[in-house]
Order: sequence, then C-alpha cells, then structure tokens
Amino acid sequence: MTRPFACAALGLSAVLTMLAASVPLASAAPSAAQTIAARQANFKKIGGAMKTIKDQVASGAVDKPAALAAAKTVADLAKAQKGLFPAGSGPSSGAKTDALPAVWTAKPGFDAQMAKFAAEADKLVLAANTGNAAALGAQFKVVGGTCAACHKQFRADN
Ligand code: HEC
Repeated sequence: MTRPFACAALGLSAVLTMLAASVPLASAAPSAAQTIAARQANFKKIGGAMKTIKDQVASGAVDKPAALAAAKTVADLAKAQKGLFPAGSGPSSGAKTDALPAVWTAKPGFDAQMAKFAAEADKLVLAANTGNAAALGAQFKVVGGTCAACHKQFRADN
C-alpha cells in the first residue's frame, strides 16, 4: 500500500516543481507594445504575400510554388493574428496602434471577421494549389474583401 502513495506524492511534487518553474515565465509576458509590433509585422507580411499573388494574377501566369507559399503565409498568419489582440493592447495602452477601441468594445464582431478571414485564407491555399489564374484571382478578391471589411470597422488608418 505504500507504493501508490509514493507515486501520488511524487506526482504532487512534480506538479509543484512545474508551478514554481512557470512563475518566471508568467512575468515575462510580452508588453502591449511588443504585441502590437508583432501583429503589425504579421500584417505587413500578409500584405506582401497578397501582393505576390495579386501580381501573378495580373500577369495571367501563376508560378504555382510561389503562389502556394504566399497563400500559406497568409493562411498561417491569419490564424496567428487572432491571438495578438489581447485586452489592454489597444490605444489606451499608450503604445502606437491603428487598432480602434471597437476591436475590444465590439469583440464578437471583430472575432467573427478574423475567423472569416482565416477561413477564406485557407481557401486561397486550395485555389493556389490549382495553379489556375482565374481560380486564384477569384479567391484573392474574396480574401481582399475580408481585409477591407475589417479595416473599415476596426482600423484607424484607412
Ligand atoms: C479582423 C480584422 C482584420 C483583418 C481581417 C485584416 N486586418 Fe489588417 N489590420 C487590422 C487592424 C486592427 C490593424 C491595425 C493593427 C495595429 O496597428 O495594431 C491592421 C493593420 C494592417 C496593416 C498595417 C500594419 C502596420 O505596419 O502597421 C496592413 C498592411 C494590413 N493590416 C493588411 C491586411 C491585409 C492585406 C489583410 C487581408 C489579407 C488584412 N490586413 C486583414 C485588422 C484586420
């Protein structure tokens, strides 16, 4: 009967060790300025990848590996962005941001637009994978529409 007890005690001490180890991690949480810089950098990369696709569609000739890589950049970063608008990272933080207070006062609407953007960006990957300029161009427009809709409502610099 001592063995299960010893195991439980070991388990508990392991949990306590982990808790102690996580304290310094928690205090190293990014500042609002760092979070804002991270999301702005991601949006810049998203913009660059969208331009790559736009130029290809305009030329009528799709370079499939490059288009696919660009579409994947948009899709991956779209998923990352939703975690980069935590409470307290708006204009009231004092850090420079173009995110309007509405991001947080109308959070469900913002989250819905972000989710739509991510879903349409996933379809952009599928469209890029066809290598077809018309298919890629059509989905590019849909994704571009999600950027514009969100900026209109939630970004100051329009
Ligand atoms: C759900 C809302 C939302 C969607 C969708 C969205 N954006 Fe934005 N975007 C924002 C907000 C809010 C900011 C301001 C961020 C800040 O300054 O903190 C921004 C900022 C930017 C910036 C400026 C970054 C900088 O350097 O300051 C670019 C470029 C940009 N977005 C491009 C895009 C493109 C391209 C898409 C679509 C492919 C897109 N965004 C989709 C909300 C969105």
